[in-house]
This record gives sequence, structure tokens and C-alpha cells, in this order.
Amino acid sequence: MRRANASRTVLACCLAALLAALLAAGCSDQGTAPLLDGDGGGSASISYAADIQPLWDAACLGCHGQNGNGGLDLRGGVSRGNMVGVPSRGYAQQRVAAGNADASVLYLKLTGASGTGAIMPVGGSLDQAEIDKVRAWIDEGALDN
Ligand code: HEC
Repeated sequence: MRRANASRTVLACCLAALLAALLAAGCSDQGTAPLLDGDGGGSASISYAADIQPLWDAACLGCHGQNGNGGLDLRGGVSRGNMVGVPSRGYAQQRVAAGNADASVLYLKLTGASGTGAIMPVGGSLDQAEIDKVRAWIDEGALDN
């Protein structure tokens, strides 16, 4: 009898320890998962809504509103859909070829590249950091983000 009680006590202790270990492991998993998500990369560095559309709002809408020049409307809500995968009206390339800034009329025009007409905005007022943001957005897949 005594012996059976003793081994039952040992068994209970082991189960309790195992349970505690499982709970602790469970808790630490929950604690680290979001950190791993944050560090894991894969998320875009540029947001179209927060980083790109404000450039259009400030520098382009005077000529690229409704029925804009070159048939291009850059107003918020429609600008991205009017560019990504859409053939340029004036040039051989797409307005924005997702993932490839160098094949995108938008980027080529912002840099004043030869073969795509006038630099945009006319006169060229975007600074290099702004142009680099547009390049990064296109190269990251021209996401709707
Ligand atoms: C002063 C007026 C003016 C401003 C400001 C302006 N554009 Fe333009 N844009 C034009 C005209 C005119 C055309 C058509 C002729 C051409 O392709 O150069 C055009 C054409 C374009 C095209 C080519 C469209 C196509 O389908 O071929 C793109 C892309 C473009 N603009 C982007 C922009 C962006 C981005 C801005 C702001 C950073 C901007 N433009 C500011 C006048 C303007």
C-alpha cells in the first residue's frame, strides 16, 4: 500500500513538472512569435498610400487630375490602378511594370531618362530621395499598400 502511494506521488509530481514545462514553452512561443514576424523581412519598405500618393498630391495633380495630361489621372484612389500594368499612352513601355522600375515610364520620366519625353513633374522638382522611394515601391512589386 505504502509503496503504491509513493509511486503515485512521484507520478503526480512528474505530471505536474511536465505540465509546467509545456505551459512555459507555450508562453515563450507566444512571446517570441510576433518578434520573429517583425524581424523576418518580406514586408515592403514603402507604402503607396503613405509614401507615394503624397508625392502626386503635392507635385502632379495640377496636370494629372480628372482627364489629366497624357490621359493620366493621379488622384488618390485611382492613381495606382491607372499605372500598374497599364500601357503608356505616349511610349512603348507600361506606365508601371511591377517589379521593374527601369522598364516603367513613370520612373523613367521622373529621372528624365532619354526616350520618354519630358521629365516629370515638368521642370523636375522631385528630389533624389523621393525618386528613390518611387523606384523602391516599383521594385518591391508596386503594391497596393
Ligand atoms: C505642368 C504639367 C504637368 C505636371 C505638373 C506633371 N505632368 Fe506628367 N505629363 C504632363 C504632360 C503634358 C504629359 C504628356 C506628354 C508627355 O508624355 O510628356 C505628361 C505625361 C506623364 C506621364 C506619361 C503618361 C503616359 O501614359 O505616357 C507620366 C507617367 C507622368 N506624366 C507622370 C507625372 C508625375 C508622376 C508627375 C508629378 C511628379 C507629373 N507627371 C507632373 C504634364 C505634367
